[in-house]
Formats: sequence, C-alpha cells, structure tokens
Amino acid sequence: MSQTTPAMDPSTATPYGTLPPASLPAQRKPLSLPRLLEMRTRGEKIAMLTSYDATFAAVADAAGVECILVGDSLGMVCQGLPSTVGVSLDTMCYHVASVSRGLHRAQGTAWLIGDLPFGTYQESKEQALRSASALMQAGAHMVKLEGGGWTAETTRFLVERGIPVCAHLGLTPQTVHALGGYRVQGRSDEGAATMKRHAHELEDAGAALLVLEMVPAALSTELTHELTSCATIGIGAGNGTAGQVLVLHDMLGVNLGKMPKFVRNFMQEAGGVKEAMQAYVAAVKNGSFPDNAAHAW
Ligand code: KIV
Repeated sequence: MSQTTPAMDPSTATPYGTLPPASLPAQRKPLSLPRLLEMRTRGEKIAMLTSYDATFAAVADAAGVECILVGDSLGMVCQGLPSTVGVSLDTMCYHVASVSRGLHRAQGTAWLIGDLPFGTYQESKEQALRSASALMQAGAHMVKLEGGGWTAETTRFLVERGIPVCAHLGLTPQTVHALGGYRVQGRSDEGAATMKRHAHELEDAGAALLVLEMVPAALSTELTHELTSCATIGIGAGNGTAGQVLVLHDMLGVNLGKMPKFVRNFMQEAGGVKEAMQAYVAAVKNGSFPDNAAHAW
C-alpha cells in the first residue's frame, strides 16, 4: 500500500515533527563533491554533523549544515551499545534511508555520508563494494570507512566504481579495543609519520574527504596543507582542518557522561535546535570553533 502525505494547512499545528512537502524550494545549491572540494580550495570551512533520523537531518539541512554523516556512532547514541562494533549494515541502511527521506522532504541539499560498519568491508574489496552499494541504494552519496594501510586498495576499488569515499584516521572507534581506548593518536614521531603515509595513500586512492579524529592540531594542520585533492574534516583535531564534524547529541548537550574535551555545547546559548546548529555552522565558518586552547591537543 502506498503511503500518502496528508495535505498541510500552514495555519494548523502539525504533529510529530512533520516535515514540509517535498516541493519546498531549496534555499541553496545542493552540495556535491566538486562544490565541497571547491570550498576547500577557497578556504571556506565545511560544516558536518551527524544525524540519524529524518527530522534532525531536515533541520540540520535547513540550518546550513553542508554534510550529514549517518555515523555508526548511532550504535552508542540510538541503540545504547557500548561501542560502535555491534552496529549492523541493515541498521545503517535503515538510518541512511530515514535521513535521506528527511533531506528530500526539506531542502535536500546536504551531502549525505553513510558509515560502513565494522565487519562489512574488512574481508575483501568485493565485500566492501556490496556493503557500500547497500548504503548508496539507501540514499548515501558517499561512504566512510575507518583505518589506513589496507584501506587504500579498498578505497581505490570503490572510487573506480563510482562510489565516493570518505576516509577516517586517528582515533578509529571500530578498532577501539585494539587501540586500548578513546585516546589521541599520532602523538609520537612514529605514529605521526604512519598517519601521514596513510593519509597520502588514501588521497592517491581517491578519497575525497578524510576525517581526522583525536589527532594533535599541529599534525592535522600539516596534513591539511599537504593533501591537495582531499579535504580534511576534524573532530578533536584542532582548527586547522578544512572542515569540522561533531556528533549531534554531543553538540546539543544530550550526553549524561563526561563530555569529550573537543565538544562544545551549542545548545547552551541557543533558543532551539535549529539555532544551535546555525551557531555551530557559523562558528566553524568563522574559525571560532574549535578553539585550539580548549578543544584540541
Ligand atoms: O560514527 C561517527 O559518528 C563518526 C564521527 C564521530 C566522525 O565517525
């Protein structure tokens, strides 16, 4: 049975975060890979946030967030798992599809990235292609995978087959058990050299974006200048990266634990969620977030 959208009278309150009709005119040009890379070249910072459902994604889009990441952090944020390791591909597809619908009911201009969860790309390039295809068919524009070294070959395989790839180095939560905890990465000379080598290999393989998580600010700034066709997106990596990402619930202050050092609660001074997101976008763009003295190593 097909689902129809009830006609909306603008003077009547609408329930459950109802989204506007799909015909809403877009307030900005849709984001695309060339546009993101052009922003990087121009020096305009890229604002990314995670979202896991239709309503928050639509509000983020309307607030000017350029990239929405359906991160496997949803395992911890939405499912109450102790880490991201238990997230399945089906769960990721469910949330990517929800976010994609939300975006298309609003402006539909944000660039949508879906995380490849643990165990769905490590076995072989072919397994990675099957998993990435499922995320793309659910509505993702790009997939993200964690780690360096062996991931370069997988990245090339996906990019050659038309799947844009966002890489992820530094603290890679899917390997938290191997790393021994949520710790800053790349502090030693050897660690920094390895991360640089991995970043260049991933760029050569065609990764267009690179998340750097919990990486010393000096190292991520150096990497941002060294890479020429890949835009760095920092989380706990200082203000020298081409863009920033935060987990939505963290930046809204919806976290009962101790907030990581790299998070700023944008809800504290905002009148609502959309205003908090707008303040985040503005702070990323004008370089006031992150503040290296407070949020970085
Ligand atoms: O899963 C996620 O949300 C992420 C971000 C923290 C970068 O990978």
